[in-house]
Order: sequence, then C-alpha cells, then structure tokens
Amino acid sequence: MGEAIACLPSFVSVTALNRPSTEPTRSGIAIQSKTAITFPLLKQIVHQISLLSTPCLVISHQKIRGEDCPRDVKLGRCAFFEIYETLESGLILSRRHSRIAENFGNPPTPETFGTGRADACPGAGSFRTTTRLRSMRLSAAVKSLKPSATIAAAARAKALKATGVTVHEFTLGEPDFPTPKNICDAAKAAMDAGHTHYTPATGIPELKKAICAAYQRDYGLSYEPNQVIVANGAKHAIHNVIASLCGPGDEVIIPTPYWVSYSALVELTGATPVLVPTTEESGFCLTPEQFEAAITPNTRLLMLNNPCNPTGAAYPVATLEGLARVAVKHQIPVLADEIYEKLIYGDSEFRCFASFGEDVKNLTIIVSGVSKAYAMTGWRIGWTLAPVELTTAMSNLQSQQTSNPCSISQYAAVEALNGPQESLKEMLVEFTKRRNYVVDRIKAIPGLSFAEPGGAFYVFFNVSSYFGKKLPGGKVAQNSSEFCDALLEVPHVALVSGDDFGAPGYVRLSFATSMEALKAGIDALEEFLKGAGE
Ligand SMILES: Cc1ncc(COP(=O)(O)O)c(C=O)c1O
Repeated sequence: MGEAIACLPSFVSVTALNRPSTEPTRSGIAIQSKTAITFPLLKQIVHQISLLSTPCLVISHQKIRGEDCPRDVKLGRCAFFEIYETLESGLILSRRHSRIAENFGNPPTPETFGTGRADACPGAGSFRTTTRLRSMRLSAAVKSLKPSATIAAAARAKALKATGVTVHEFTLGEPDFPTPKNICDAAKAAMDAGHTHYTPATGIPELKKAICAAYQRDYGLSYEPNQVIVANGAKHAIHNVIASLCGPGDEVIIPTPYWVSYSALVELTGATPVLVPTTEESGFCLTPEQFEAAITPNTRLLMLNNPCNPTGAAYPVATLEGLARVAVKHQIPVLADEIYEKLIYGDSEFRCFASFGEDVKNLTIIVSGVSKAYAMTGWRIGWTLAPVELTTAMSNLQSQQTSNPCSISQYAAVEALNGPQESLKEMLVEFTKRRNYVVDRIKAIPGLSFAEPGGAFYVFFNVSSYFGKKLPGGKVAQNSSEFCDALLEVPHVALVSGDDFGAPGYVRLSFATSMEALKAGIDALEEFLKGAGE
C-alpha cells in the first residue's frame, strides 16, 4: 500500500485498518488530511486506492467539500463505486461529510453505526468492522432520517473547538446551570436506599403523584396517576404519542417554524406532516383560522409547542382558546408540548392547553418534563398527561420498547417537583436578564429582524438581508445554512440554521449561556456583519 499512495500530497495519509480475523469481506482505509478534502483530492485518493484492487471502506475525519462533487461521477473500475455504496448504505465517510452525502441523496447519520467507531478512526489500527457492508440494508423508515440538526450544529462547533479555536457557542438547547443541589442529593439518597432496579415501566407512583400534584398546584388541573406516563425525556414522550396515534395515511398539523424532531418523528410512523407556516408579524403563532383551514378528514393530531423552540413564541391566551375551540369542533387531538412552560418573560403569560374546559382536556395530551425548568437535560425525565385510554396504549408501547426511565432520575424528579422552587426562580431571573440583553443587541444590528421571544431561551432572527452579499472571509451566503457556515468559519460564532426548523432566512441563537459569552459572541457577530459588502 505504501507504494500505491506515494504520489498523494504530503498532508494526506492513508492507513490500512486492522481487520479482525472474523471479518468476512472487506478491509478498510482511513484517510487523514490536515486540510479539507476537496473533490479533486478525493478523486486522487480514490484513484490511488483503486490501484490496490481492494474493496474499501473509506473513513475521513476531514470535511469533504461537496460543492465540487457531482452526483453522477464515477471513478474507474471500483473505488468510487465502493465509496458511493458506502454512502448509500449509510456508513460514515466523515463526521462532517453531510454535504457530499446529500449529493448522493441519502445522508448517512453518525448514529447509524455509532460515532464510537468513527471516533476510533484517527488511530486507524484500532478500528474494527465486524459486519458485511453489503448486508447493512436500512429500513425505509430509518433511511430517510437525518441526524438532529441542533445536535449536528453543536457537534460542528465542538469539533472546531477541539482544534483549539475559541468558538462562540449558541447552538445548545439546554440550561447552562448545574442541576440544583437538593435534586442531586435526592438522587444520591435514592441510590443509597437501593432504588437502583427496574421500576414500573411507566414510572414510580411517587413521581406520578408528584406530577399530578404539580398540575393541580400550578394550573388547577386534576389528573389521576393512571393518566401519567413518565418517559425518557419529553422527546421520548412525544414519540410515544405519535406512535400511538398516527400511521400511514394520517396527517399531523405542525406549525412552522417547528422543533426539528417533530416532522422526523411523524414520518417515522408513515404519517404525513402538514406544515403550516406562521410569520414573524404574527409573533410566529398559529392562528385558529390557519388551524381550521389545514384540517382534512385525515387529520389525526395538531402538534403545538408553547412556548416555542425555536422562535420563543409564547401564545396569547386568546389565540390558545381559539385553537382549543377549533380542536373541539373538529375533534382533533392536540399534543401540547409545554416543555418550556416555566421559562416565561415580561408580560407574556403561560396557559396550559388543557385548561380551557373538560372537552379540551379530553383532547389534549400534555408533554412536559424536568429538562429545561430544572436544568436536568441529562437525567432524561419527561411525561405525558392524557386521557386514560391513550395512556394505556402508550403504556403498552413503552413497556415493550424501553421499560422504565432511570430509577434514580425518577427520584430526583420527585424532589424537583415537590422540593423548594427557589433555584427555578433564580434561573428565571438570570434568563430574563440574558433575554433582554440579547434582544436589545440584536435589535441594534442593521438588517436583522425578529419577533421578541416571550418564552424558552432562544432568539430567532432573520438574516436574509445579508444573502448575496460578500461576507468577511470572502464567502457569499445564499441561504441560512451557508450563512451559519460562514459565521462559524470566520468569527467562530455557532448558530443553528433556520432551514432546519422549516424557516428559511432565519437563524436560532440560544441564550442559555453566560452573559460574558453572549457579549463576546454578539460583538463578534456584529463586527462580522459590519464587514459585509454589497
Ligand atoms: C420543543 C421541545 N420539545 C421537547 C424537547 C425534548 O426535551 P427532553 O430533553 O426532555 O427530551 C425539546 C428539547 O430541546 C424541545 O425543545
């Protein structure tokens, strides 16, 4: 192999991967390059590999520049075909390869085969592949899944940080505060008390009781424990609902901009997401008229996120009431994702969707959890409150699929709900300061527009006036994704593109980070935009 690769540029090294003796068919090649791998360079590498007459699994940790990579190019007799196939079957070429993969119409996901294997790549000798690549045929449902865009954006920022660059990181959807001490202490006590085994699949009675008590206390809503399912985070709770209610031929109404996982989870069931655009002018709130107009005989569900990720929209009570009336009129169930319910700012008010009367409550599935309000994203506790019949169905699903959420986390969540609420208040004070600061700063930057967030911890602003202009560093962005790429590359500011939320032209900034970080990052953003040409 040494000879075969001799004419590659010196900054590229190609290494044979070890192959366990059980490996039936393939060997592997790891490419490491100090610079981004352009398509001409990829061709050169592939040509060299083709001289080996070895079918190859090619792995690269460098970005492969997809712009230059036409879909229909074939390279010689074997090598490029092998790469194409590898992409088609979803294997990883590069952890940052998605653009080249998209050119082939089928972006693979790092999750598909586990990032651990790709991570092992730099020490190529440690890489093992134990399966026949050709037999890795993915199911139709999973094949079309893309990795979560917010997680991907955070991973790009992290990768850049790992190279020693200071990155202004605003992609994260989680509070930067530690989980309050009383909650951590409750978890430790639970371990000491031996609560380290299976629990009932849908949660311990103490937590179900605590959830019911919290809804009674906070919103005057009466629920019984047999209407509660404790899931592995709110995301899992949402999956339980959609999987239990929807299937092929069904339609699910989703106002856009929407949280990235909504449409993916709907599509996974074979149902069709019906995206209804909301506008900055309407504060990014779905109107009752829009909801009614989107209903067809196939409509099975409305997914309503209040307060909203990514826009921060906190729905006015009158709008919620109007939506509730439409739901009752047409008997459409509503998944009310209220995970940001405790993070409300200024004059905005939060109203639980189920609180507009018994007829509305009977159609409402509340989704919430402890992740955002109590800085407990890693503990993975979310829940649903729903009519008994649906709860029973979801309980069957969860008991077959995941069993109980972590026993220790459940005891911690009991403390979060029943214990002192001071830390929640303190976090809210800090979030409010940050929200006001970011709103003022973004308002002062020419060419940006947004609807002021009433909740959650995001500002979602329109950057499209900068499209088509030469940005510092020389790039010209034509869309939000390209804008975010340029912003990460030059002033190292990491935002999430609105394209991923069904809102072209916008970007999302998370203010779940310190004031110092916000100041430095927004200074960098402002400076960058000042340098934009005509
Ligand atoms: C709107 C929305 N719903 C649900 C979730 C999932 O929350 P969890 O971390 O509890 O799964 C998130 C997380 O970012 C979210 O933004």
